[in-house]
Amino acid sequence: MSGTIANLLNNLRLRTKLLLSLVLTTAVLTFAMLLAVRYSVEKHAQQQVVAEARSSLLTFDALLGEHQKALARKADLLATRASMSGDDTNVTPSSGDALESDGSDLIATADASNNIVVQHSKNASVPLANAREMLARARAKGFTSDWWYVGGALYQVSIQRIGHGESTMIVGREIDYRAVRDMGRISASQVVFSYQQTVVASTFRAFDEQEAGRKIRELSSRGKIELGDDRFFADTLELNSDPGHIVRVTALKSYREATAFLTTLNHLLISLGFLAVLAGAALMFFISGRFTRPLADLLNGFEALEGGDYAFPLHGQGGDEVACAIRAFDRTREALQKNEVQRQELEEQLRQSQKMEALGRLAGGVAHDFNNLLTVIKGHCELILDRNTGGAVVSASGQQIRKAADRAATLTRQMLAFSRKQALQPKVLDVNAIVGDVGRFLQRLIPEDVEVVFRTDGALGRVKADAGQLEQVLLNLTVNARDAMPQGGILTVETGNVTVDEELARTRPSVEPGDYVKLSVSDTGTGMDAETKAHIFEPFFTTKEPGKGTGLGLATVYGVVKQTGGFIWVDSTPGLGSRFEIYLPRVHEKLECNLIAQSSPNRKAALHTVLLAEDEAEVRALAYEFLTSAGYRVLVAEDGVRAMQIAKHDKTIDILVTDVVMPRMRGPELAKRMKRLKPGLKVVYVSGYLEPSEIDGDFLKEGFLLDKPFSRDALVNQIGEALSVREHMEVSV
Ligand SMILES: Nc1ncnc2c1ncn2[C@@H]1O[C@H](COP(=O)(O)OP(=O)(O)OP(=O)(O)O)[C@@H](O)[C@H]1O
Ligand SMILES: [Mg+2]
Repeated sequence: MSGTIANLLNNLRLRTKLLLSLVLTTAVLTFAMLLAVRYSVEKHAQQQVVAEARSSLLTFDALLGEHQKALARKADLLATRASMSGDDTNVTPSSGDALESDGSDLIATADASNNIVVQHSKNASVPLANAREMLARARAKGFTSDWWYVGGALYQVSIQRIGHGESTMIVGREIDYRAVRDMGRISASQVVFSYQQTVVASTFRAFDEQEAGRKIRELSSRGKIELGDDRFFADTLELNSDPGHIVRVTALKSYREATAFLTTLNHLLISLGFLAVLAGAALMFFISGRFTRPLADLLNGFEALEGGDYAFPLHGQGGDEVACAIRAFDRTREALQKNEVQRQELEEQLRQSQKMEALGRLAGGVAHDFNNLLTVIKGHCELILDRNTGGAVVSASGQQIRKAADRAATLTRQMLAFSRKQALQPKVLDVNAIVGDVGRFLQRLIPEDVEVVFRTDGALGRVKADAGQLEQVLLNLTVNARDAMPQGGILTVETGNVTVDEELARTRPSVEPGDYVKLSVSDTGTGMDAETKAHIFEPFFTTKEPGKGTGLGLATVYGVVKQTGGFIWVDSTPGLGSRFEIYLPRVHEKLECNLIAQSSPNRKAALHTVLLAEDEAEVRALAYEFLTSAGYRVLVAEDGVRAMQIAKHDKTIDILVTDVVMPRMRGPELAKRMKRLKPGLKVVYVSGYLEPSEIDGDFLKEGFLLDKPFSRDALVNQIGEALSVREHMEVSV
């Protein structure tokens, strides 16, 4: 049960908790205060009751004193009159006598022996013996005023001697119910007269009177008594001091009457208490809103953040703790949002590069097989053209085949470039020189309504890249820019050194920090929307009409740049133009001068022996055909192991022409082993497909690289060039 309540309390909103606690506190305080007030008022009322009872008695005392004086005066007058008339026993006042009208209830005379003659009495009978006894006692004690209890009635009496004799005049006033009620009215209290233990008269009804008499007797002189459903404070005054004849008057003040106003006061206080609690609650409701609203705002902010909303409006003005917490939350939220954006960008980049990687593998695989096929097609085509005896028709067809094969070869080269598996020949070079070369060439490509602006940095750093491929990159970018400006515009080619720090890297997420040579091509053309921009580097993605674009331009650019270890960043706004920035790692090596003599091929082919290692039978046969027809002595092997066997037996081999990818033993391994056998050996690697790891891998530094598909001239010239180097230079292994 208590657990349920604790749970319930825990789940209450802060504002409700504040309100509840305040209402509780106010209620407790208010009611405690009201109880204190009530207690103190009640106590005061009780003291008042005690004081009033005493004051009533004093009033009775004074009143009875006055009565006593009046009785004495009357007794004196009657005694004087009796003395003057000479008849002591007849003093009956005539009717209308002023003496009677003052309320004397008993007039009597007595002789020397205390024999009483009642002259006038309100009561029908006055037991004379009883009266005689009272008089004898009074006279014995020399009282002139006394209290007589005669025949069940109590009298306040005055006794006067008549003349100088022994007769006495007695005038009495009965303390009857009327007299007692008058006294009660004067003092606003209950009054009880008693003679010894007997109640003589009181303001109570008969039943209560007995009860009151009994309880008063039990009290010594003053105290609280309960009568019926009321409580009284009783205070008693002894009216005489004659033992055995004590007359008492008791004033009883009712507590109920005295505290009757407390009920009204209680109601008033309770209403006041409720009002105070309500007012406090209402005030707290408004005040607590000032605290809890910002907290509720903050909570909403947290919930919105959980739901991915980073822009939920928060108001953190002011310097209090809640405002500070809101501002801190806002900062945290911004940081989280930044991280989230970065994470999404990284994910997007990763996804993109994985996609490109997969596409690259596919394109590379296709291009590899195509290269072998194209080598065969082109080679045989050349053989047909060389040996053509069929006339012009065959020659024309042969040339068409060669053209188509050349175009196909270009395509496979581009695909290989994209898949970063082409055989690059990276050299330390100056990008400005490339820009210069392409610039001259551009004049022919760019229409007159396109203004070409070159901004090259004179102090440009160097990069290590394949010059031919870099030219291709620049050419593809400028041709794209031209195509994007059919109505003319400005094409800007810029170069510059740039250091990408963390800050710049944040604005170009695809670029890693480092030192670069930047080559940028921008145009004022059509620009691209985000959707197009997301796909431009994919092979065969083009927005151009069929036949106008293959969609391999930017794929090539991408492959070359990546293979060179660089980055691309693209910015484009539809309708305003595009900007392609290429970041190539800056190197500090010196520019390479071409040490290889560009001498004409050695025509003394017949003096040289070529070992040809190629696993593709058709390519092998074709190359064999090319080389033998060029006058070389050719030994052939279908893989590296076989080639080694031949090499061990034939010491005349001058040059090894080897495919790179072969079963059993790969080309580079074969070249190394043969080089150990024959240090003067020259090597030409033939490849249409290289794994990225192989580019800088275990190739011999002085080896030559021949791309597939190769033409007869390309093969023969490459071998001639390789052999001529041997003749001019000493090569260290
Ligand atoms: N400077 C540019 N401005 C606007 N769009 C461009 C720009 N460069 C490239 N694009 C968009 O990117 C697409 C792909 O370009 P990419 O160079 O790869 O292929 P292509 O130019 O269409 O064909 P090709 O293979 O002949 O180059 C283009 O079709 C074009 O939509
Ligand atoms: Mg293009």
